[in-house]
Amino acid sequence: MGLEELRHQTERRGGAAEPLGNIIAVSGSQATIGILPTGLSTAEDVRTTVSKFVMIHSGGSRLIGVVTEISLNLPPFAKEQGYRAIAEVDLMGEIRIDAAGAETFWRGVSEYPAISDAVTLLTSDEFRLIYKRSGAATGVVGKLQQDHSTDAYVNVNELLSKHFAVLGTTGVGKSNGVVVILQQILEARPDVRIFLLDAHNEYGKCFGEQAIVLNPRNLKLPFWLFNFEEIVDVFFGARAGIEDEVAILAEVIPLAKSGYLRYRGAVDRSAVKKSDANSAGYTVDTPVPYVMADLVGLIDERMGRLENRSTRMIYHKLISRIEAVRSDPRYAFMFENANVGGDTIAEVLIQLFRLIPNGKPMTIMQLAGFPVEVIDAVVSVLGRMAFDFGLWSDGAAPMLFMCEEAHRYASADRNVGFGPTRRAISRIAKEGRKYGVFLGLVTQRPAELDPTILSQCSTLFVMRMANDRDQAILRSAVSDAAANLLAFVPSLGTREAFAFGEGFALPTRLTFRNLPPHARPYNEAIVHLRMQKGAIDHEFIASVVERWRGTTTGNKFRPETSPFEAQLTAPAAPPPPPRPAGGIDAERFSILKKQISIRKEISDVTKRDIPR
Ligand SMILES: Nc1ncnc2c1ncn2[C@@H]1O[C@H](COP(=O)(O)OP(=O)(O)O)[C@@H](O)[C@H]1O
Ligand SMILES: [Mg+2]
Repeated sequence: MGLEELRHQTERRGGAAEPLGNIIAVSGSQATIGILPTGLSTAEDVRTTVSKFVMIHSGGSRLIGVVTEISLNLPPFAKEQGYRAIAEVDLMGEIRIDAAGAETFWRGVSEYPAISDAVTLLTSDEFRLIYKRSGAATGVVGKLQQDHSTDAYVNVNELLSKHFAVLGTTGVGKSNGVVVILQQILEARPDVRIFLLDAHNEYGKCFGEQAIVLNPRNLKLPFWLFNFEEIVDVFFGARAGIEDEVAILAEVIPLAKSGYLRYRGAVDRSAVKKSDANSAGYTVDTPVPYVMADLVGLIDERMGRLENRSTRMIYHKLISRIEAVRSDPRYAFMFENANVGGDTIAEVLIQLFRLIPNGKPMTIMQLAGFPVEVIDAVVSVLGRMAFDFGLWSDGAAPMLFMCEEAHRYASADRNVGFGPTRRAISRIAKEGRKYGVFLGLVTQRPAELDPTILSQCSTLFVMRMANDRDQAILRSAVSDAAANLLAFVPSLGTREAFAFGEGFALPTRLTFRNLPPHARPYNEAIVHLRMQKGAIDHEFIASVVERWRGTTTGNKFRPETSPFEAQLTAPAAPPPPPRPAGGIDAERFSILKKQISIRKEISDVTKRDIPR
C-alpha cells in the first residue's frame, strides 16, 4: 500500500496514524524503514522513536514492530529517495481478522513485509486493540510510555502461573511496582493467597485491611517445624555445626518425635527418656512435634552413660547451646509455647498462608525484626511449607510466594547463603506451578541471583539498571527482539519498566501507576534517619527503645539477667543507631553482636541449671 493511499484511508477512518516512512529492506524478522522528512519532524521525535511501536501496512495484513535503532547515517540510495533517517525494527506480531470478523492481535508474524510498504506510528486505538482486555483476568499496572493515554495491561493468569521477577537498582521504584502488581493480582484473582517476604518492613500499611502483618512478636513458628538442617542452623547461629554435636542431634531428634507421639497425653513424659524409645517411622525431617525438654533429656541421658570426660564435654556443649537459644527471648517466636495445643501444624499453616482468608488473602511477613542469624532458616521453613502444602493439597489453595531481596536467599554463588533456603525457592521455581505455588522475585542484583531460578520467571519487569553484569544476565534471559530493547535499560526513569514475557502482549515500556502516599512502601529505616537529622525528642527515643527491645527482650528474662541491665553494665558503647529495620546492615549487626554477649550470660546461667 502506498503512502498516499494510506493517508486517504486513515483520513477516512478518522484515525490519526502518523505516516513515518516506508520499508526499504527486510531480513528475517527485522526490517529497515526509510523515514520521510515529514515522518519525524523534530529532533525530539528522532530521539524518542527508539523502543516505539510501528505498524507496517503490508498487503492485507498489519504487522507490528518495535524500533530498535535509528540513524541519520543514510546509505546513498536512501538519501537519493528523499529519506531523512533510517530505523531498524524487530517484527513482534500482527493484527489479524479472526473467524468472527473481529480484529485481534497475535504474537509472531505469518507474512513478512515487502519493500515500500508504508509504516506508521501506532495510534491509541491500535494500542488498545493490542492490549485490549481479553476474557482472561487482566489488570492495569500503569500507562504505556509511548502513549500515555493507553493503559498497560498485564495478563494476571500468565503472570502468576509462570512466575515473575522485578529487577532494578535501588530507588527506581521496585517496591512501589510490587505494590501495584500485587494490587492487580488481589483484584483479578481473589482466590490466590499472597505471601510477601518483607525484608525491610516497608509493606505493612500498603494493603490495608487485605493483609495481615506478621513479625517476631505475633508469629508462631514452632521449632519442630524446622527440618534437620534448619534447626541445626538455628542452634549453631548460622555457623557450620560441629560434626559430633550434629551427629548426636541426628540421633535424638527422631527419638524425641516418636516419644512425643507415644506419650502424648501421658502425665509423665519423662518416660520418653527411657532408652528403649525408638524412632520407628520418624526421620529427622518429619514435621511432627516434639518437646525440647525431651530432646535435652535424651542428650543428658546419653551423657550420663559416658565415662570419657572429653566425650561428655561434647554432649554438655550441645545442651548448653540448645538451652542458650531456647531461652533467648529473640527466639520466642519458635520456642515459646511451642508445645501448647499439641500438634498445631494446621493452625500454623492457616495463619501463615491465609488458607481460610476471611477477607484477608495476604500475609506480610516482616523479616527485619528477626535475629539476623535465623532469617535464612525461617525463610527456608516458610518456602518449604508453602511448597509442601501446595504439593500435598494438590494446589487446592493457589499461592504467590513473593520474595524481596531474592539474591540473598538464592544466590548465584553456591557458597553464599543457606543451602536449604535456596533449595526451597528453587523448588517453587521449578515445580511450583504444578501445585499452584507461584513465585515472584524482587532483586537489585540479578547477576547475583541463581540463574536457574531467574530463568523460570516468564515475565520480567526490568527497571533502571546500570551494572553491565546485570544487563548481560538479562540479555541472555530474553528473546533476541526483547534483548535489543534492553539497551535502553540504563536510561529508564523512576517508575518506568520494560515488561517482557508471558504476562504482556508485547515487550512493553511502561510507567507504573503513581501510588497515593498512603499506599507507598514506607521504609522505617529511612524515616528514622530523617528524624535523626531533625530534633530528637522523647517520643522518638521511646520508639527507638521499643523497637530495640522488641527484638532483644522478652518476658523470659529473669531480673538479674535483664538485658536492660546487661546493657547498662556493658562497657560504655555508643548508643546504637536507631535503624535496625534494614535487613542485614553493618550497624544492625553490631546491635546483635552485643546481644550475643548477653546470650552468653544466659548460657552460663543455664549451664548451672542443667540437671545432671
Ligand atoms: N509507583 C510509584 N508511585 C509513587 N511513587 C513512586 C512509585 N515508584 C517509585 N516512587 C518513588 O520512588 C521512590 C523509590 O521507590 P522504591 O519503590 O522504594 O524503590 P526500590 O524498591 O527500587 O528501592 C519512592 O520513595 C517513591 O517516592
Ligand atoms: Mg525496595
